[in-house]
Amino acid sequence: MLESFDEDRLRSAEPYTVSDLLEQGKIVHFPRCPVPLASEADLERLRRDLAGQLKRKNASYHPESDRVTGLQPGAPLAGLAYDVLTRHRQAVSDFLSGIMPKLMPDATIGTCSFRPVEEQGRNLSAHASSELIHIDAGAYGATNGDRILRFFVNVNPDTDRVWATKGSFAEVFERYGSKAGLAAATGNARYLERGLLDRARTAALHGVSHLLPAATILDSSPYDRAMRKFHNYMKDTPEFRNDPAGYQEIRFAPGSAWMAFADGVSHACISGRHALIWTCLVPLKNSHLPELAPINILRRAA
Ligand SMILES: [Fe+2]
Repeated sequence: MLESFDEDRLRSAEPYTVSDLLEQGKIVHFPRCPVPLASEADLERLRRDLAGQLKRKNASYHPESDRVTGLQPGAPLAGLAYDVLTRHRQAVSDFLSGIMPKLMPDATIGTCSFRPVEEQGRNLSAHASSELIHIDAGAYGATNGDRILRFFVNVNPDTDRVWATKGSFAEVFERYGSKAGLAAATGNARYLERGLLDRARTAALHGVSHLLPAATILDSSPYDRAMRKFHNYMKDTPEFRNDPAGYQEIRFAPGSAWMAFADGVSHACISGRHALIWTCLVPLKNSHLPELAPINILRRAA
């Protein structure tokens, strides 16, 4: 599940080495964060004071509005959060374009956030909780099968960030796809293709997106609804939640980084505080191993 890259292994990686592992549903891990971070003094200010200036669960930079959301009005750390998040967002983008030159062209670089709140024991609803094992779905508008890539850094100076997983999308789908109602007995893979209504919605949302850039987040597609259904099944269903099959915990040490296709690896963050999280959408057409993409696994199952 975990593929670790120290500096030597990274230096000798070929253009497809790292991205193939992601496509195979692995978590790519860096014992030392491979991108330059903000100064220790700036990180310490964020760790110490950001949580007290939040109105949401994290401070998040949004490129469509070029601003940081989640902070209370007039938060003193707004300027620092903007600087740290925009610089980190660019540094991760540059690094990933360098090590995955075939995967990253035309990727849509999305939000970059700082999570200063302890993940364990937060009182969130099941669907919003990252403590329950899930695959990412539905929070990014219509992906239409494009891949959700996320890059994490544990910037806590002394405490691990702990994940749990029950395996790749392919493995979890194999075990639970039909129970979740997704190994569609329709005999018709076209259920995943966009119909007239989906096309009309997409066109309307793109029409208003020059006035309201965030509008496209409301978009949807049959594939994204299927993934949302699976996401909710995993979080809601005791049979899945209590099944130990494939369960594994992974500890990410202070100063380490890791990345995964969040739609391709089941995951939960069961404890940890202070992480940087970078998100992007990778075009499905960039896949080197397209047969492993969730949309093609769903198509085959149907
Ligand atoms: Fe997630």
